[in-house]
Amino acid sequence: MKQVEPLTRREEILEKQKQYLFPSVMTSYSEPLVLVRGKGIRLQDVEGREYLDFFGGILTVIAGHCNDKITDAIIDQARTLQHVSTLFPTIPQVELAEKLASIAPGRLQKSFFTNSGTEANETAILMARAYTGRHEVVALRHAYSGRSALALSLTANYAWRVGGPGLPGIVHAHNAYCYRCPFEKTYPACDLVCARDVEELIRTATSGLLAAFIAEPIQGVGGFVTPPREYFSIVAEIVRKYGGVFISDEVQTGFGRTGGRWFGIEHWGVEPDIITAAKGMANGSPIGATVATPEIADSLKGLTISTFGGNPVSTRAAKATIDFIESEGLLENARVVGAYLRERLGELQEKFPIIGDVRGMGLMQGMELVKDRKTRQPASEEMGRLMDLTRDNGLIVGKGGLYGNAVRFAPPLTCTRSDVDEAVRLLERSFSRLS
Ligand SMILES: Cc1ncc(COP(=O)(O)O)c(C=O)c1O
Repeated sequence: MKQVEPLTRREEILEKQKQYLFPSVMTSYSEPLVLVRGKGIRLQDVEGREYLDFFGGILTVIAGHCNDKITDAIIDQARTLQHVSTLFPTIPQVELAEKLASIAPGRLQKSFFTNSGTEANETAILMARAYTGRHEVVALRHAYSGRSALALSLTANYAWRVGGPGLPGIVHAHNAYCYRCPFEKTYPACDLVCARDVEELIRTATSGLLAAFIAEPIQGVGGFVTPPREYFSIVAEIVRKYGGVFISDEVQTGFGRTGGRWFGIEHWGVEPDIITAAKGMANGSPIGATVATPEIADSLKGLTISTFGGNPVSTRAAKATIDFIESEGLLENARVVGAYLRERLGELQEKFPIIGDVRGMGLMQGMELVKDRKTRQPASEEMGRLMDLTRDNGLIVGKGGLYGNAVRFAPPLTCTRSDVDEAVRLLERSFSRLS
């Protein structure tokens, strides 16, 4: 990447951030990192240092930073028609909706566009309630669903549940967290007790009249918790028995992230009634989508609008992103390079006892750090130091999990084997300096 003259000193930017932004806006690292440009899998900070990006702006830069084809589409659309609102049908909006209908699993056919994952989840719950005429929702512990009042109530991680008690009508089932099984069992001898317990939850903590079940196929903020392959089909059967619809939150797992398939839930063989998407969908342009079956989409009577939803520039960017993923064969690349990343992370696990677990799918891989492999005590403080070390070594990774001890790897789907080798080399150096 070309070296640039820093326009502004790092300290000045940090000072302005402190002065003018809410202090609750969380930043990574003990000293925040000010980034000024990106290309492909590389980022550059304000002092001209380069980084290999294995987090993609929280799983959002799915086709690489400042992707030429997507940028060209954005510029062309910004010069043609930038905004009219959902009051007017536009070419980019209908073209994107048609494309989504062609790649979405099962009978998902109709879309509603918003600006974020939070709004996509809000819309999904609204639609489930409109369709079923019921109110109650089952979500999963360790979930992250967004930051509106409803999405915060679906979220099940105390660190993010700011603002007091949640809304009524939502209960949280145990998640399929095999490394820390809430039932202290071991897969597969457990007979998926976590999935079967959803029925007990419905029968004891709700009226038995369910509107929806909502889950991320792989819990993102939760630390890439990946359920066993039978889990969602058992849960889906229970949820449907009690009249609820199945919502798959694909905000992190969507658009090929998990390798080989467009959407994460497809790996579990369950046909959802609604999916929600955001993040990677437009490679960084703000967008959210709720895609539903025709019956569910048609069930909302009355008026609805989203001023920026379906915005021509964002929808054009999303269509260009999906086209790029398709034309470059990135679903397959995520599968193949993801498997290689997993293998290399496994090698690190053999070398460093602090790595207790390695899990994930495709280019959504994580590891959990523990003080002791037997007790599995979370190594949360060490995780903080590892974040700073990886940054010092020129690698950007994410942090997550209820205990803040999960390392999250989610590079753009354009990631190559040699990018993986470089990341593993930088990680190895960082882990070596940790002890
Ligand atoms: C699984 C999941 N759902 C929903 C959201 C909320 O998305 P947004 O931040 O775009 O509102 C997030 C954000 O991290 C997420 O990870």
